[in-house]
Amino acid sequence: MSYTFDIQRTLTPKEKPDPDTLKFGRAFTDHMFIMEYETGKGWHNGRIVPYGPLNLEPAAAVFHYGQSMFEGMKAYKTADGKVQLFRPYMNAARVRTSNERMCMPDIEPELYVSAVRTLVDIERDWIPDKAGTSLYIRPLVIADEPFLGVQAADHYLFIIMCSPVGPYYDTPGGGLSPTSIYVEDEYVRAAVGGVGFAKVSGNYGGSLKAQAKAKEKGCEQVLWLDAVEHKYVEEIGTSNAFFVINDEVITAPLLGTILPGVTRASVIELLQKWGINVSERRLSIDDVAKAAHDGSLKEVFASGTAAVISPVGKLMLSDTTLTIGDGGVGELALRLYDTLYGIQTGAVADEMDWVFEV
Ligand code: COI
Repeated sequence: MSYTFDIQRTLTPKEKPDPDTLKFGRAFTDHMFIMEYETGKGWHNGRIVPYGPLNLEPAAAVFHYGQSMFEGMKAYKTADGKVQLFRPYMNAARVRTSNERMCMPDIEPELYVSAVRTLVDIERDWIPDKAGTSLYIRPLVIADEPFLGVQAADHYLFIIMCSPVGPYYDTPGGGLSPTSIYVEDEYVRAAVGGVGFAKVSGNYGGSLKAQAKAKEKGCEQVLWLDAVEHKYVEEIGTSNAFFVINDEVITAPLLGTILPGVTRASVIELLQKWGINVSERRLSIDDVAKAAHDGSLKEVFASGTAAVISPVGKLMLSDTTLTIGDGGVGELALRLYDTLYGIQTGAVADEMDWVFEV
């Protein structure tokens, strides 16, 4: 099924931000996509309108009980001016999982990708092409029915906005500079049976306390440990985490607490293609510390749409600080970043058939 949407163009286009000083998520493009859902009627009235405030009642369910999910994707401009998305159907699949978990209405993948593609096509002049920049795409589904009873709503909005972005972390070197990560042993992100595997707003709101604590300790982010034993490594901030010990690359398995990242899946597939030993298995923080001490911990890095690959230079535990490798950018992290960002921007051949032209 193909979808078409009404388009109402802005009469007052905004000035585009300077690509040399672009931050993450501060500037928004001229238009947004919006579509409504009503029980009995389904998704309807999909349209592109000028970007601007929403008209929501204070009683809208999303403000009270958090029936809300979001996605993160990026559009890139290639050297010859083509516009590309990266594996959009994987995001579309995750939208379904998140909506299902939150008792929100399903969005069919073709509808999701058509909406993203239509908006990105209209905003193509907003896609920066300076190294390390891209157009961040933020889809969102919220329950906007004004009702204070705790139950799944009967009315929702599906919104997509776009933001031209630079590096996610404000580290001195920008893009690929090593971060310091605090190993959080008090707060937890997700438990089995909860919503850790879904991209829902509450996961992020609930993480801020630990993030603030990490900042106080001079770190950019936290490394989450499992919620039961506070022992096994899970995610780094809002990203998936990878540990290179000897010649094995290890990341936490998808057992219900880990967000199934598109970048995570792509890292695993690339490593397999390169003949590198990659395991999805539980790894204790004690084994990470032991490997750091005996020199077998070669690299730690995070993967996500926003930061792509983010190398970790230091892991701070409550009683000790571990320097990873020489504290700089690891060889594998650099190779993965160059390959992924290269494929995304068209500088590296897309042998995996991951890019999708708009
Ligand atoms: C990502 O790494 O893509 C994220 O999920 C970060 C985002 C919440 C800003």
